[in-house]
Amino acid sequence: MNKIGVLTSGGDAPGMNATVMAVAKSAAYYNMPLVGIKHGYNGLLRKSSSLFDDMEELHLDTVLDIADRPGTYLRTARCMEFMDPAWRQIAADTLRAMGIEGLVVIGGDGSFHGAEYLCQLGIPCIGIPGTIDNDLPYTEMTLGYDTAVNVCVDAVRAIRATSRSHDRPHVVEVMGRHCGDIALTTAVSTGAEIVLVPEVEWRIEDVAKRLNQQIAKGNTRTTIVVAEGCWESMEPFDMFTFLNSHGKKCYAGEPISSMRLASILKRMCGMIEARSTVIGYTQRGAEPTARDSAFAFEAGNLAVRLLKDGISNQVIGMKEGKVFYMAIDEALQAKRSFNRYLYDLVNTI
Ligand code: F6P
Repeated sequence: MNKIGVLTSGGDAPGMNATVMAVAKSAAYYNMPLVGIKHGYNGLLRKSSSLFDDMEELHLDTVLDIADRPGTYLRTARCMEFMDPAWRQIAADTLRAMGIEGLVVIGGDGSFHGAEYLCQLGIPCIGIPGTIDNDLPYTEMTLGYDTAVNVCVDAVRAIRATSRSHDRPHVVEVMGRHCGDIALTTAVSTGAEIVLVPEVEWRIEDVAKRLNQQIAKGNTRTTIVVAEGCWESMEPFDMFTFLNSHGKKCYAGEPISSMRLASILKRMCGMIEARSTVIGYTQRGAEPTARDSAFAFEAGNLAVRLLKDGISNQVIGMKEGKVFYMAIDEALQAKRSFNRYLYDLVNTI
């Protein structure tokens, strides 16, 4: 194999640049020219007026400067056109026209489906799991997850300090889409007393009960870590009636949120205050931790070696602490398991 390409796709994740750097170093080592595709799969669709908006030859001296930077130098996007076979054919044709004989795709499950389609069109692809969500069950870790958790842990520790000073509970919302791993690991690592995740059904009344138990024990600074997807598994609750009858204005049809949960709990538990913080995009925009950077380095190198050796249609992951690879289709079929034991431990002791 001669020339290869690399792209980042989906939500950006800390460690994406470090992976591109590792791919570039390895490509240079094996004398394989490298092209960076911009804006995820969009860079292959020939929609821009300038080629430089879509792709760029990646030289080591450019890439060495970006390794520890947050974000993704190549830019990223979720490419809806890739749902359509006609656009996928255009992407494959573009790769052939550019003489790109293999592609490294750094992204989440949607990006891996895109890589699988390209493989079916004869383009060898290797996927590297780049998402903070840790929602790819075939691998023990995804790139960016460790960094996101560390950002959340720092934030929760700071929030617990101010909660302690004011004797008030705090709802902290973290990302993760439909996956509660960021929330659970953050809760476990910070001593949070309550965690709510999409994987386990829950009721507001039970959260209030647990909070009241904490207050009765003298703990007035309970931290409730909630995954952004936890509202999916919440038993329906008439927030409109409850808040309006407790002196807080609420609009019909308004969705539940962390802020609203704090308001409801404050009223259910007769507290003076309860506050909320949404940690948000700081989880994605942080510098990668050593763990993420080290995974990026190994994964990037392995991806290039696989392409060089004519092995494709694979994704790279981590199993028992070691970097490994497996077929994309099998990886995408892997079933998620949630650590219910840790979840129960946080919510019980
Ligand atoms: O998949 C990563 C992620 O940050 C999720 O945790 C979150 O739900 C989503 O992306 C947010 O996406 P957007 O960048 O489109 O707001």
